[in-house]
Amino acid sequence: MTHSKILVTGAAGYVGGSVLSYLKTLESSSIDAGSVIGAVRSEEQVDALTAARFNVQQVNLSDEQAVAELVLRNEIDVVVHCASGLDRDLVVNLIHALGKRREASGKATYFIHTSGGSAFSEVGGWSNGPTSDTDQIFDLEKALADSMPLRKVDVAVTEEAKSAGVTSYIVVPPMVYGRGLGLWNKLSVCMPLTVRASLSRRAVYTFPQDSVMPAVHVSDLMALYARLLEKIVQNDAPAGGENGYYFAVAHKIHWWPTLDRMAAALHSRGLVQQRSTQMWPNDEEAAEAYGLPGLFVQMIFNSRTEIRSGKAGALGWEPTWTQEDQFLQIIDDEVRDVLELDTGKGSVLNNVNKQLK
Ligand SMILES: NC(=O)c1ccc[n+]([C@@H]2O[C@H](COP(=O)([O-])OP(=O)(O)OC[C@H]3O[C@@H](n4cnc5c(N)ncnc54)[C@H](OP(=O)(O)O)[C@@H]3O)[C@@H](O)[C@H]2O)c1
Repeated sequence: MTHSKILVTGAAGYVGGSVLSYLKTLESSSIDAGSVIGAVRSEEQVDALTAARFNVQQVNLSDEQAVAELVLRNEIDVVVHCASGLDRDLVVNLIHALGKRREASGKATYFIHTSGGSAFSEVGGWSNGPTSDTDQIFDLEKALADSMPLRKVDVAVTEEAKSAGVTSYIVVPPMVYGRGLGLWNKLSVCMPLTVRASLSRRAVYTFPQDSVMPAVHVSDLMALYARLLEKIVQNDAPAGGENGYYFAVAHKIHWWPTLDRMAAALHSRGLVQQRSTQMWPNDEEAAEAYGLPGLFVQMIFNSRTEIRSGKAGALGWEPTWTQEDQFLQIIDDEVRDVLELDTGKGSVLNNVNKQLK
């Protein structure tokens, strides 16, 4: 299957934009960069990405007919879905379109979904403790699907794909850091959120618990998508469906030392009053400063998520950012990027507010 056409959704976003750029720069890969199309939402994004010689098309992924037309017209065999892990309708539209494409072409089709590490956070109702992608994740998620939209969508991916005859995979990025490789949104989620909350209060606040998060540098996450895509185009696709989970975890980080460095970076620029962190007076004030539902704030910043990657190595994935210290060394750069590039408009936040409120 050497001429697979690949559609990357959310191609103006942090993750999807990075996938699009990364695939274009891959050397000696079996992926044909000319066969990669990005799906973006606005005309402005089409113009900007087209000017930079990316092949992009405008589509509202909520529009079932528009999605089917896009997939069939462009003969798409593989979708890398990076627009939203929280919106079931988008997933269903894309998978049904791939099902139609499979029927029309007689070729196998593949759906690579992007979920998130929060699906496995104890505050978000994950009661199974430390988890590896070698565990029976589908069954475990299904049993707890109703208490968390991310899990519900993951389960829908596997079930819808199975009934449409599409092979599905679920990539689970934990906290992603590093400047995005794409042209539009270059910022991830956790750092901008916390810098914004700190600027509004002129202080950096911590929670009572030192959150321990799994993490991955954006370049390593991109390498995982690429390894999976290479296997697919080489006709060596790994098992998908219920066995198609890949946790993209390269190391863990602790949030308290992260905030200490963030406080130092903001204080040296005169943006917070104290060089040290303070404790949030209560959860309500924290949620208000973050501008997000309390559950989401607690899930990310005051929780433990213990997941590890047990399968990606078999795809040839070898992350290079594997130490917490490598992350801590670049906190000043992360803060600088947020101060330079933040527009305050990540669609992930809109989706979270819509789905969790
Ligand atoms: N960044 C992280 O640390 C992280 C970690 C774990 C999981 N994830 C998951 O990865 C996915 C992407 O995250 P991200 O950080 O890349 O978010 P992002 O920067 O906000 O990108 C999402 C992109 O998808 C587009 N989009 C959303 N809904 C759409 C629709 N109905 N039709 C067409 N386009 C649509 C958005 O368009 P607009 O530009 O018009 O808004 C945006 O460009 C999310 O599911 C997120 O939960 C991210």
